[in-house]
Amino acid sequence: MGSIEANPTSEFFEAQAHLYKHVFSGINGTVLNCAVQLRHPDIIHSHDQPITIPQLASKLEVHPTKTTFIERLVRSLVYNGFLVEAKVSEEEEKEAYSLTPSSKLLVKGLEPNQHQWCWGLLTLGMASNSQIMNMALRDCKSIFNGLENLVDVGGRAGTTCRIISETYPNLKCIVFDLSQVVENCPGSNNLSYVGGSMFESITSTDGVLLKWILHDWDDESSIKMLKKCKEAISKKAEGGGKVIIIDVVIKEKEDHSDMAQVKLLFDMTMMSTLNGKERTEKEWNKLLVSAGFKHHKITPHFGFRSIIEAYVKSLPALKFLRRNLVF
Ligand SMILES: C[S@@+](CC[C@H](N)C(=O)[O-])C[C@H]1O[C@@H](n2cnc3c(N)ncnc32)[C@H](O)[C@@H]1O
Repeated sequence: MGSIEANPTSEFFEAQAHLYKHVFSGINGTVLNCAVQLRHPDIIHSHDQPITIPQLASKLEVHPTKTTFIERLVRSLVYNGFLVEAKVSEEEEKEAYSLTPSSKLLVKGLEPNQHQWCWGLLTLGMASNSQIMNMALRDCKSIFNGLENLVDVGGRAGTTCRIISETYPNLKCIVFDLSQVVENCPGSNNLSYVGGSMFESITSTDGVLLKWILHDWDDESSIKMLKKCKEAISKKAEGGGKVIIIDVVIKEKEDHSDMAQVKLLFDMTMMSTLNGKERTEKEWNKLLVSAGFKHHKITPHFGFRSIIEAYVKSLPALKFLRRNLVF
C-alpha cells in the first residue's frame, strides 16, 4: 500500500479536521432538531428578552444537575448562528442569549416558518483515526523523554502502545485494559499487557498515557480515574512522573472554523452517546486540580486534540527533579 506524502503534524491534521467536519456535519442537523423538539425557539421568543442558561433550563424543566447539558447545546447553537450572545439589560452583565434571524424561522406560530425542515437522526460510532495519530506520536520524543515506563490506560489491543514501544525501545510499555480486552494480546521485548480496571488500581509506573479516554466519562468518574493514575505514578516515581492525556481542548472562539466545528461536534457526540464531554481549558484545569495534580501543560499537537501533561509536583519542584534527579 502506498502512503500520502505530507507533513503529518500539519497538513494531515488540517485535512483530518476538514474531513471530520463533513463526516460529522449531520450532527448539526440533529442538534438543531433537538433544540426545536425541546422548544428552544418558542421558549426564547416568548421570554421577551435575552434568556440566561438557568432561566432556559428552568423553563425546560431540566434537573439542575443537567444544566450543563443545556449550556453545551447552547454553545453549539451559538457557534452555528442559531443563537446570539446578548445582554439582559444595560445594567446586567449576565450572559444571555437571543434568537437570530435563522432561529426566528423556527418559532411556531410566526410567519414565515421553517420549523418543519428540522429533522435528523444521531446514529454515530466513534471514528477511527489511529493511523494519523500514530504517525505523529513518532515525533513526540520530548513527551516521553526521561520516562522509564509507560502504562497506556484503556489502550485497547495496543495499537498506539506498540508504535511507542517500537519508536522508543528503551521505554517499557504496558497496555492496561479490561482483562477480556487484553487477554491473548501478544507482547514483545518492551511491550506487555495487564488486565484490570482503571477505577480500582493501575500498574505502578512513572508515565501514564490516557489517549482518548477521559472524554468518554463524566467529571466524577474522570476524577476517580485520574486519582488512580496519580497513585500509580506516585508509588513509582516519587512524584516525578506524569500523566499524558491526549484529548480535545475546546476553544471555539480562538480555533479556526474547521477545528472549532469538529471539537463541538465531538462534544455533542459524547453528550448524546456516552455520558462524556469535551472540555475547555478551564474545565481541564478544574478536573486536574480536583484529582490532586499540581501543574499541567497543554500543547495543541494532534490537530483537534491536544497533549496535556499533568504533574503531581508543582513547577519549581519539577525543575529541581529534572535538573538533579530523575529526568
Ligand atoms: C475509547 S476506547 C480506547 C481508546 C484508545 N486509548 C485509543 O486511543 O484508541 C476506551 C478503552 O477503555 C477501556 N476501558 C473501559 N473501561 C475500563 C476500565 N474500567 N478499566 C480499564 N479499561 C477500560 C475499553 O475497553 C476501551 O479499550
